[in-house]
Amino acid sequence: MPSAASSPPRLTRRRIVTAAALASVCSTASAQLNLVDSEGRAIGALEAPFLTSPEGIVKIMLDLAGVGAQDMVYDLGCGDGRIVIAAGLRGARGVGVDIDHDLIANAKVAARQAGVADRVRFERGDLFEMDYRDATVVMLYLSERLNLQLWPRLQAQLKPGARIVSHRFKMGDIRPERTVHIDNRDIYLWRI
Ligand SMILES: C[S@@+](CC[C@H](N)C(=O)[O-])C[C@H]1O[C@@H](n2cnc3c(N)ncnc32)[C@H](O)[C@@H]1O
Repeated sequence: MPSAASSPPRLTRRRIVTAAALASVCSTASAQLNLVDSEGRAIGALEAPFLTSPEGIVKIMLDLAGVGAQDMVYDLGCGDGRIVIAAGLRGARGVGVDIDHDLIANAKVAARQAGVADRVRFERGDLFEMDYRDATVVMLYLSERLNLQLWPRLQAQLKPGARIVSHRFKMGDIRPERTVHIDNRDIYLWRI
């Protein structure tokens, strides 16, 4: 009997479906991020996959932006919604955007459980196609390349005084107003 090591890999039904889905690439500005399955749901291979900002980092991000009840906080690539929910607990309003349906569904449940569902909302979508004009604060935990791709859109849409905070990733050569270094991570603040 051939050993597992010497057998050629079997193309299971799951692998065939995945391979077919991976081949389905939309031609938007964020093309390589926009891999979808046959039902149009985003799948794997994201440049900024789901990782959570630890609770302490979320607090620092909110503090750095000075988030309070007067703010409208957007998290672009909101994951499980923790940043927007934490902003809601400070009395702010917020919007979380993520390409992943399941994360958005979980974030909605978490917002209800935290008692902030009247102040925050979550939308499934591509962050390059959303409107941020009412944001006073934008939170990012994506990649340096995506930050740079977003910068012209943020500059065009955000009002003077709006703050942008990025966990871990810079914005190319655009100098931040402040940088906090903690637990081997950098958190950056820019102001429009
Ligand atoms: C590193 S996680 C950050 C999660 C959350 N902001 C936090 O700090 O805990 C990045 C998130 O961005 C989402 N994402 C990646 N590309 C996206 C895109 N083009 N549009 C919307 N969401 C995207 C991923 O699904 C993932 O949940």
